[in-house]
Amino acid sequence: MKNIGVLTSGGDSPGMNAAIRAVVRTGVYHGMNVYGIRRGYQGMIDGDIQLMQTTDVSNIIQRGGTILKTARSKEFMTPEGMQKAYEQLQKHGIEGLVLIGGDGTFRGAVKFFEQYTIPAVGLPGTIDKDLSGTDLTIGFDTAVNTAVEAIDKIRDTAEAHDRVFVIELMGRDAGYIALNSGIACGAEDILIPETVTHIDELLNKIEADELRKKAVHIIVVAEGDDFGGATEVHASITERFPRLDVRACVLGHIQRGGSPTYTDRVLASRMGHAAVNALRSGDTQVMIGIVNNEIVHTPFTNVIKGTTPISADLIDMIRILSV
Ligand code: F6P
Repeated sequence: MKNIGVLTSGGDSPGMNAAIRAVVRTGVYHGMNVYGIRRGYQGMIDGDIQLMQTTDVSNIIQRGGTILKTARSKEFMTPEGMQKAYEQLQKHGIEGLVLIGGDGTFRGAVKFFEQYTIPAVGLPGTIDKDLSGTDLTIGFDTAVNTAVEAIDKIRDTAEAHDRVFVIELMGRDAGYIALNSGIACGAEDILIPETVTHIDELLNKIEADELRKKAVHIIVVAEGDDFGGATEVHASITERFPRLDVRACVLGHIQRGGSPTYTDRVLASRMGHAAVNALRSGDTQVMIGIVNNEIVHTPFTNVIKGTTPISADLIDMIRILSV
């Protein structure tokens, strides 16, 4: 295989640049031509494709975002869009692809490869960590660290004012960012979609805390929680306790930006290098993951909407520690 393409698709995640760097440099090392496809699948359709050199990826390992830009392409999900994309790949002589993205990226890939045959390898680039076949996704660690830093700051002002704070974190349908940030910040409550939220239990806990003169209560809620987000939780608390000083905060896209942590940089470098090796060895239509510190390959169809169950032990630990 001589010509390969690399793209980033879906929501960006810190570490995508480190992954692009690893793909380009490993490819060039093996004598390949590596083409950067800009704006994900949309750039594939539009033929926004350029040959990359090792110097094009200098000084990016530490940068958030993605130098290739990203998009969520609706057109790619149509038969016409897919055909245009395939024609562009043919036109550029691209014989293999590295797809860096999350759940939506792999869903798109599965549909595309039902119709068209081209070897491809995926890298899990998402802050949500909602893919099977890997212990970590590129960007998750940075997103959690960003959330932790923000929640620590919110706790300072909560302590100063004796306030209840409801902080909503990203994750789409998954609660891993909220779960891990909540544990790391000593949140009094963590609401995630993987467990059923009983709002009455939360309200009773706030009442019990009030009785023992504990005024500050940090509630971390995942955006995909079954009860609702920060707005809904805030409304329930103020309805039952109109006297309490309650604030809601939606952390939002700050969780997607910033310089990747060393964990994400190393993860992305290892995965990018492994992706090119997988293409070269012909083990394709798989996502590269790292499980127990070893590189593993999982077919695209098996990684989508992957959830790692949250152990009963962990839930029990949170209950004991968050008093
Ligand atoms: O998948 C990453 C993610 O940041 C989710 O956590 C969030 O639900 C979504 O993307 C937000 O998407 P957008 O940037 O399109 O608003």
